[in-house]
Amino acid sequence: MRTPIVAGNWKLNGTRESAVKLATEVVAGATDAAVEVIVCPVYVHLAEVQQMLQEGQVKLGAQDAAAQESGAFTGEVSAPMLAEYGCGYVILGHSERRSLFGDSDEVVVEKFLAVQKAGLTPILCVGEQLDERESGVTEAVVGRQLGALLERAGADVLENAVVAYEPVWAIGTGKTATPQQAQDVHAFIRQKVGEHNADVAAGLRILYGGSVKPGNAAELFGMTDIDGGLIGGAALDSQDFLAICQAASGT
Ligand code: 13P
Repeated sequence: MRTPIVAGNWKLNGTRESAVKLATEVVAGATDAAVEVIVCPVYVHLAEVQQMLQEGQVKLGAQDAAAQESGAFTGEVSAPMLAEYGCGYVILGHSERRSLFGDSDEVVVEKFLAVQKAGLTPILCVGEQLDERESGVTEAVVGRQLGALLERAGADVLENAVVAYEPVWAIGTGKTATPQQAQDVHAFIRQKVGEHNADVAAGLRILYGGSVKPGNAAELFGMTDIDGGLIGGAALDSQDFLAICQAASGT
């Protein structure tokens, strides 16, 4: 039995005040132990959001981390630094990082290993662009993104990790993958990991991300290989986010 996870990726949004307010509302509403709930604010809001999370069961995550631990890397934040701020999770390889900031498969693997070395749990994002889906290479793309990690580090590292399938064409567009489209890719991911290690594959939590809303969450999370969601826009509204967390309960 895999405990479902719902993670809110707040992306580049909010003020100190609104981040604290949102965190406070999420903590107050997320009381169901059957769902692991994570919020991922921007770096500079981590300390204050961490304060708000002291009392409840909501966990803290970051949206990225440096591949390096320290040194002359202006503008970066390292995994050990995030650990100091109480982060348990770090999103890596988000499509926005890949497409806008040039994070290659190899860089994402370096970041993944750095995050695990610091004792944190990576949330590794994979997903295809619209033209890739239309030309029928979804599995090749997702397989390549995942394969970069499997070839470098093996499947055992996924024992302490989460994978998020985020079709790029569904992110922030209002277009959601159908539950069956998402399930097919989730099953492919599990099968690919299973070729290396069946136990790790069986326990691996694979989240779906891309225009998840209160109205479509239950159907998505009801699919066999979908273990929760990575939520963007709807995570900025506490009521919507809590409704999505509720939909993951008991799935
Ligand atoms: P939306 O839920 O806004 O589509 O964003 C998904 C996402 O990118 C989460 O990481």
